[in-house]
Amino acid sequence: MTRPFHLGWFVGNSFGVHGWNQPWTGRSARDWAKPDLQIDVARAIERACFDFLMMEDSLFVPDNYGGSTRFYLERALRAPKNDPLPLASVLAYLTKNLGIVPTISTSFYPPYLLARHIATLDLMSEGRIGCNFVTSTAARAAQNFGLEEHVEHHLRYEMAAEFVEVVKRLWESWDPDAVVMDEERGVFVEPDKVRAVDFKGRFFASRGPLNTARSPQGHPVLMQAGGSPQGRAFAARNIDVVLAASNAIPEMKAFRADMRRRVAAEGRDPDSVKVMFMLIPTLGETEGEARDRLDRKLAAKDAAPEVVLAGMSSLTDIDFAGFDLDAPLETLTTNGQQGTLRQFQSQGGTLREIVRNYSHGYDRLCGTPASVASRMIEIIEEVGGDGFIIAGPLNRRYVTEVTEGLVPVLQKRGAVRSAYAHAHFRDNMMEF
Ligand SMILES: Cc1cc2nc3c(=O)[nH]c(=O)nc-3n(C[C@H](O)[C@H](O)[C@H](O)COP(=O)(O)O)c2cc1C
Repeated sequence: MTRPFHLGWFVGNSFGVHGWNQPWTGRSARDWAKPDLQIDVARAIERACFDFLMMEDSLFVPDNYGGSTRFYLERALRAPKNDPLPLASVLAYLTKNLGIVPTISTSFYPPYLLARHIATLDLMSEGRIGCNFVTSTAARAAQNFGLEEHVEHHLRYEMAAEFVEVVKRLWESWDPDAVVMDEERGVFVEPDKVRAVDFKGRFFASRGPLNTARSPQGHPVLMQAGGSPQGRAFAARNIDVVLAASNAIPEMKAFRADMRRRVAAEGRDPDSVKVMFMLIPTLGETEGEARDRLDRKLAAKDAAPEVVLAGMSSLTDIDFAGFDLDAPLETLTTNGQQGTLRQFQSQGGTLREIVRNYSHGYDRLCGTPASVASRMIEIIEEVGGDGFIIAGPLNRRYVTEVTEGLVPVLQKRGAVRSAYAHAHFRDNMMEF
């Protein structure tokens, strides 16, 4: 092991319902609208010295599966879901070292509002905020913002690039030393150190300056997870941390090599862009117990393929309810999540096979904390990646297994940090 790797926690379904009708979840689902579960998770992963907690988000109630909201609403899949930004401020306030990363839509959020919101959070948290940029992929989301259909996939990424440009210009509209608070001169802010940006682009315009000060990180940590060529190109130019959901080691290796090539071609240092992989380990006291738990999880998926299909329908705007599970699947296209659909389709010939093999991340790793830790270290050595985002079910039992079981073994082996070295999220993320 030459250098340690990073850990993040991906809270899928974010500030939504977790553990509805699932064992070991206590009152989590009933108390879904309160931040207590996420607060407990943030504190647990901070004790384990994770780099960040990332909150997924989406902006619509899906009706893509079977042409109705029924399937999703009855199971609390993706709705109800609160806005992650108020939760981000609670988590930032109740932690001291952890990076907090809400997800933001570059297609629907006005850049000025976003720049101000994130700068505010960065100031409040003394430099621990990140932002996961998504272009949003659903027609239903677009319709909530006055469009009939969503903007075309590639054009969305061109918008996203401009969005990042204007947001960064706004963040830079105050010099780092603009706030002087000089009592003798009676000057709080040096007026010459705050400037308009006068941004006029193809999609966005903003005069600036921002009406809050330069934040501690200047540029909060920017993340994104789009795996299409357009998503990767956007990341190579603009992003600090790239997240990938792959369920095969060769694919992870190819993804990282491709990202590093793209980053270098943009004139950036490939080591300055971190590539992290979704990981859903299943832990047990013994190898047998862990294997049994994983087998039961996979059997439950086999028994209810419609849950996976409904999820995929909401990501791709394709209604999978109408397909024969056992017929060969034709090649599908989408204006929704293209990389996700491509990966989904590559998992087998029929939908039933695909559902069996598909996972949003690497989910076949199971064992004791010691054996899972060894395997994680081997994967990073083989792939050369920068770390993992843990993405398992959000319940206190699972979080404890990871933070109190797995992470201490990784720490003993020097594979992950045992203490935070820096005050700012970006500095911790770029430390190794
Ligand atoms: C780890 C991870 C987290 C993601 N989080 C979100 C999210 O919170 N909201 C969202 O709309 N899409 C999310 N996505 C989807 C991506 O942003 C992107 O839309 C998707 O991967 C398809 O992009 P592509 O069309 O460029 O391949 C996530 C993807 C991954 C792998």
